[in-house]
Amino acid sequence: RGRLPFIAGNWKMNLDHLQAVAFVQKLHWTLKDAKHEEGSVEVGVFPPFTDLRTVQTLIDADKIPFALGAQDLSQHDGGAYTGEVSGAFLKKLDCTYVIIGHSERRQYHAESDEIVADKVKAALRHGLVPVICVGETAEDLERFGASAVPVGQLQAALDGLSAGADVVVAYEPVWAIGSGQAATPEQAQEVCAKLRGVVAEKLGADAAARTRILYGGSVKAANIAAFMRQPDVDGALVGGASLVVDEFAAIIRYQK
Ligand code: G3H
Repeated sequence: RGRLPFIAGNWKMNLDHLQAVAFVQKLHWTLKDAKHEEGSVEVGVFPPFTDLRTVQTLIDADKIPFALGAQDLSQHDGGAYTGEVSGAFLKKLDCTYVIIGHSERRQYHAESDEIVADKVKAALRHGLVPVICVGETAEDLERFGASAVPVGQLQAALDGLSAGADVVVAYEPVWAIGSGQAATPEQAQEVCAKLRGVVAEKLGADAAARTRILYGGSVKAANIAAFMRQPDVDGALVGGASLVVDEFAAIIRYQK
């Protein structure tokens, strides 16, 4: 399919900057010891804001082949927005990616589709690749089926972007997050294929062929391969299992 698989670890509000150093070093050495072939898959870590500088320095000093990302950003570029973090700051910390619209932000911080769309534009304005999260709740699933809500969320998030914009999409059914109950690979494939259709409609066919679409929600070493065998699933956004070195290393080293 020509798209580099992407295994991304969203730490959420876990691991302070001291724990982050130990974790990243251990993950790196676990992969080295296992003779993991660098370059066969892109590995991303998404620590809390307060860890970014420390992790950046470590990755840089030890030449650790992990991409760095943040878990959110402000839709504003700077100014009187107490507590917010601008995309410009993240770019200066060598962040490549930024997660936008995670269901926990939508749920606990009232992030609407409009805010998500503004944040996507802010990320692109600062040269960051947004990892746009979409997904249906259990109630949505019952009322509308699996794809209607994520398709609508992605249409809103991509609205008004230039053709060919560089984004990553993460399909995360809310009912599968942290529940131990992942979607089936077939369910994930069905929705991810529809999301690729939205990328085609909004950003063009070339972008759709190039854009990585991740599945997230109770991904672990035991189920990653089945997801990766799906033609429209290009990686995983991993929460809980990304905090356990051996488990996350095993996910990265999945064999189809
Ligand atoms: O961003 C990650 C997702 O929310 C998935 O979390 O792997 O703990 O289910 P989980």
